[in-house]
Amino acid sequence: MKNIDLKEAYLKFFESKGHKVIPSAPIIPENDPTCLFNTAGMQPLVPYLKGEPHPEGKRLVDVQKCFRTNDLDSIGDTTHHTFFEMLGNWSLGDYFKKESINWSFEFLTKVLEIPIDKIAVTVFKGNNIVPADEESASIWKSLGINKIAYLGEEHNWWPNMELLGPCGPDTEIFYWRSTEKTPDVFDPENENWVEIWNNVFMQYNHENDGKFTALKNKNVDTGLGVERVTAILEGYTDNYKSSVWKDVINKIEEISKLSYEDKENARSMRIIADHIRAVVMISGDEAGIKPSNTDQGYILRRLIRRMIRYAKKLNIDINSNWEEELALLIINKYSKYYNELEKNKNSILETLKTEKIKFSKTLEHGLKEFEKVIKNIEGDTINKDIAFRLYDTFGFPIELTEELAKERNLKVDTQGFKEKFAEHQEKSRQGATGKFKGGLASTGEMETKYHTATHLLNAALKKVLGEHVHQKGSNITAERMRFDFSHPTKMTDEEKKKTEDLVNEYIKMAIPVERLEMKKEEALKMGAEAMFIDKYGEIVTVYKIGNISIELCGGPHVKNTSELGHFRIKKEESSSAGVRRIKAILE
Ligand code: SER
Repeated sequence: MKNIDLKEAYLKFFESKGHKVIPSAPIIPENDPTCLFNTAGMQPLVPYLKGEPHPEGKRLVDVQKCFRTNDLDSIGDTTHHTFFEMLGNWSLGDYFKKESINWSFEFLTKVLEIPIDKIAVTVFKGNNIVPADEESASIWKSLGINKIAYLGEEHNWWPNMELLGPCGPDTEIFYWRSTEKTPDVFDPENENWVEIWNNVFMQYNHENDGKFTALKNKNVDTGLGVERVTAILEGYTDNYKSSVWKDVINKIEEISKLSYEDKENARSMRIIADHIRAVVMISGDEAGIKPSNTDQGYILRRLIRRMIRYAKKLNIDINSNWEEELALLIINKYSKYYNELEKNKNSILETLKTEKIKFSKTLEHGLKEFEKVIKNIEGDTINKDIAFRLYDTFGFPIELTEELAKERNLKVDTQGFKEKFAEHQEKSRQGATGKFKGGLASTGEMETKYHTATHLLNAALKKVLGEHVHQKGSNITAERMRFDFSHPTKMTDEEKKKTEDLVNEYIKMAIPVERLEMKKEEALKMGAEAMFIDKYGEIVTVYKIGNISIELCGGPHVKNTSELGHFRIKKEESSSAGVRRIKAILE
């Protein structure tokens, strides 16, 4: 098949169809407490899918940085990744099924030159809410695609019937990945058919009360995974052999002096390749995530530590600069699309090194603990509880415990460990689902108020503490707001009181909140605050609150500050070095 740079070709194609190329949103969602990471291209666009006008217009295209943790335990096989890139094109109340399907077809058959007989599609078969999608089926037929399967909501409704927010029926495009002749009849269960593109016709909103109401606009949201489609185009069933990963795997081979072709090593190499890329993307994001024991920081820590364990398995000298070499390769490769990586290069490398040193110490403690526990075990078996504690507290993979045990002629209750591990996973999965659901956060009335209160608080803090105050993070729920900002010291009670009073004064002044669109430079010239300047395109939305506040922001916001009620600071505390955190409510 055609040798092509998929990302370039995709952006160029949709640009030629009147789409504006927008930069990827940060991998860490802003103002979305329901979700730790962006998991799909449409996620940062939810407000626009719900009807807010997008400053770049109604046709958008991008490459979005995505991260999914539900695949974490599958990493190591040939097709799963934690971080991945999603290509997407959107219509915000502009074109609909006909253009969307026609353009997907044109891109696949004309640009990528995929033969028509290798393409099959599924369409929604209908349920008690929405009828079967005959329209999509007949558009496909008009293009000469006759391999069409009608499937139910479990396949052809995105994201699914349970999640709240924008949703709709979709048509999925499949590719015949086999040298065998394409069958005449399309059987979606046949594994040689792989899904390559999902076109969602997003015209409903799943409301809090369970109802599906019509969105203001009929939207199109499509998604196509770069890793999978590149591998397919290049004729590989192992994604890691494609051009997306080849240089990374080669580098790991070079560092470890081992071969990827050796099955013993391949899995470890894939884990290292996947994790180093994810680690660079997460720690290179403007949100400034550092390894910790909660939320995104915890995922980052797990990825770094897991990567180190597998590097050890390959006998890589952990104290060498191996992780830096790999990180630099990723940074150079991806900076073209995500220029924050180059900007945050030093901090990415520093994060990796610091965590590596920490983990080495933990490992040392773990080894000491191991020596201690084996003195006290009964019989010749390390029981499941000890094995699990070594894993959970000291980061010992079961294989390491087994190895050490073997050296001392001991056994390990590996089966028991696995059961305990599965139990534990189930618990953490249940705990995490709330946060990993897919983050189609609703922006209800309260959240909107808190958005505006955030701008007022930012402005008030600058007045009370000084111009060095900048937003470092924000998290909003219907119940409260959390605001992180740069400031070196704890706020005094007087400063807190002053800030609170000032925000309440702004509220009482009943200032209209204006939404403006302008060139990015113009906004910056006007002194607009911007937390992630690189993420914005040429034309930006600016929210102006009288002469109190002016910020680059996607909204939504209230119309007038008087709608906010009374503002109260509940807590002021440290967030990280040089960053303070305020928790506040509106009452
Ligand atoms: N939102 C859909 C998906 O993630 C299409 O972009 O598959």
